[in-house]
Amino acid sequence: MATSYSHESIERLKDQIDIVDIVSNAISLKKTGANYKACCPFHGEKTPSFVVSPDKQIFKCFGCGVSGDAIEFVRKYYNLDFVEAIEKIAKDQGFTLERTKYDDSRDVYYRANKDAARYFVRCLLSSPNKAMDYLLERRKLSQEMITKFGIGYADEKWSSLYNHMKALGYEDDTLSELGLISIKGGKKYDRFRNRVIFPIISTSGKVIGFGGRALDEDGAKYINSPENPIFHKSNNLFALNFAREYLRKEDCLIVVEGYMDVIGLFQYGVGNVTATLGTALTENHGKILKRYARKVILSYDSDDAGRKAAYKGVDILRSAGVEVSVLHVDDGKDPDEYVKLHGKEGFLNLLSKSISGTDYQLRHIARGTNLQTEEGKIRYIRDIAPIFEKLSPVEREVYAQKVGRALRLDYNNILNQVGKERNNQRERSPQRSENKVSRELTATEKVLIKIIFMDSSYFVKLREHRFADAAVKTDLAREILNLIKDEFRDSDGFIDEQRIKDSMDPADGLKLDNIIRNVPVVDLEQTFRECMRTSGLNALLEQEKRLLDVIAIADEEEQGQEGEKLQLKLMNVQREIKNLRGGLGL
Ligand code: CTP
Ligand code: MN
Repeated sequence: MATSYSHESIERLKDQIDIVDIVSNAISLKKTGANYKACCPFHGEKTPSFVVSPDKQIFKCFGCGVSGDAIEFVRKYYNLDFVEAIEKIAKDQGFTLERTKYDDSRDVYYRANKDAARYFVRCLLSSPNKAMDYLLERRKLSQEMITKFGIGYADEKWSSLYNHMKALGYEDDTLSELGLISIKGGKKYDRFRNRVIFPIISTSGKVIGFGGRALDEDGAKYINSPENPIFHKSNNLFALNFAREYLRKEDCLIVVEGYMDVIGLFQYGVGNVTATLGTALTENHGKILKRYARKVILSYDSDDAGRKAAYKGVDILRSAGVEVSVLHVDDGKDPDEYVKLHGKEGFLNLLSKSISGTDYQLRHIARGTNLQTEEGKIRYIRDIAPIFEKLSPVEREVYAQKVGRALRLDYNNILNQVGKERNNQRERSPQRSENKVSRELTATEKVLIKIIFMDSSYFVKLREHRFADAAVKTDLAREILNLIKDEFRDSDGFIDEQRIKDSMDPADGLKLDNIIRNVPVVDLEQTFRECMRTSGLNALLEQEKRLLDVIAIADEEEQGQEGEKLQLKLMNVQREIKNLRGGLGL
């Protein structure tokens, strides 16, 4: 992606900076001959093998192998992307970076989205069509809401929008970057087809992206615009441009899961409502929400996914310093259905029964625990300790009393026990991260992770592959894949890299960052296949060896029948090995 600063300006900054200067702002360096040395900040070590060369203006660690120039150091050390890194350096050095005509070039994206949005609206309004029927009949939306939200329709044809946009003079690249078209094998076609289109509008009133809901059962329920120069899912919220008008009267903002929930509530006059764009709440969202409202009420679907999302959401909002409550919608599965059944009053009544985020989390943990038994009580207190850690002393006391009452225990004991658990858990965690062996990824894992970050559809391919277990072996790799799985709810398979790194141990996050930036992969498909093939082959070779051992023992012990079964197995394994060696079998 283009940077927002001119190339010349960046080059001038590079000429002006001294790597020794920049590194020693972060760690202390010792001069040794022509170079400087330190203990490497990127891996644990006692004797310094991290060298900074003022002549070459590079750093290199002879322990762990990291190397690069001053900008690379800042990127790695502070965990920044390239633009953030040069911004930091410029700021520290009092250097003013010049912007390119970037802002103009973003204009084209805004214009294209606006034209696309207009086109979708025109399709919805033209001649009878199934999208309009769906919205009016099935979803009972008013014409007023359809207009207010600029809802549109992408028909079933493969290039309606494409032809329209080409006629307006837009480049293929622009359309593809915006996710309006897909290009595969030279063929270009509309990405949104047979869908109701919800334009996503920034608080400054620009169309920054689209969510497309399927009109038929087949395919993903939603397709959203991909991340691009004007669309950042973790920086924007749906309908916040409208909701903020209501926030003059209301001091709380309701966050729901779906676009349809937002629009449904609006139709009934509840306007202080917003939703994320098909992803979970991020820290960034927390910051934005804090700007707009004193209090946030999470009102997610009452299914499992919704409950988990609410639990995490409470954590995020709490650490952003926002007061948070959770609303449980039990009658009908989501706020949209609820308000249709019970009207505005019904919903507001429910709203008044929302419970504090902490209460919600405490109840959530209680769900899986039998609080009648002594073990249950003990386990419960252990599990809620991390929640208490995040509370203020006063809140801690209030909730300890509550828990005490529920468990029929003295609240002072609860406070004590929770405090002890917190200390225990804190002591245990650093030990875990010292367990380096299982925290070093294999070469194959690194490549596979890189591939998934380049194209998230490989996450599914990996998960469904018969050699998945052979390819993913270490704890760290499994952990990363689990985080990706959490992120994957989005039909686009958009993976929020930063969010994943944020939820990891910092040292592991750095490793992941390193993989994403430095592991070279050119041909995704071929590399993926090769990784899976070698993993499978290695696993089969191990299996062959084990079988040969057991067969030898079986022969010694004269286990005729058993021996035959094993021989049969061995034959199969060897056949598979042969296939894989010949590059077949995948
Ligand atoms: N979402 C998504 N991809 C999916 C499913 C959902 O991006 N495959 C996002 C969309 O932003 C959607 C939100 O998650 O609005 C909530 O999902 P869901 O409750 O399934 O959708 P609704 O908008 O409530 O749609 P409906 O009421 O028609 O079920
Ligand atoms: Mn829904």
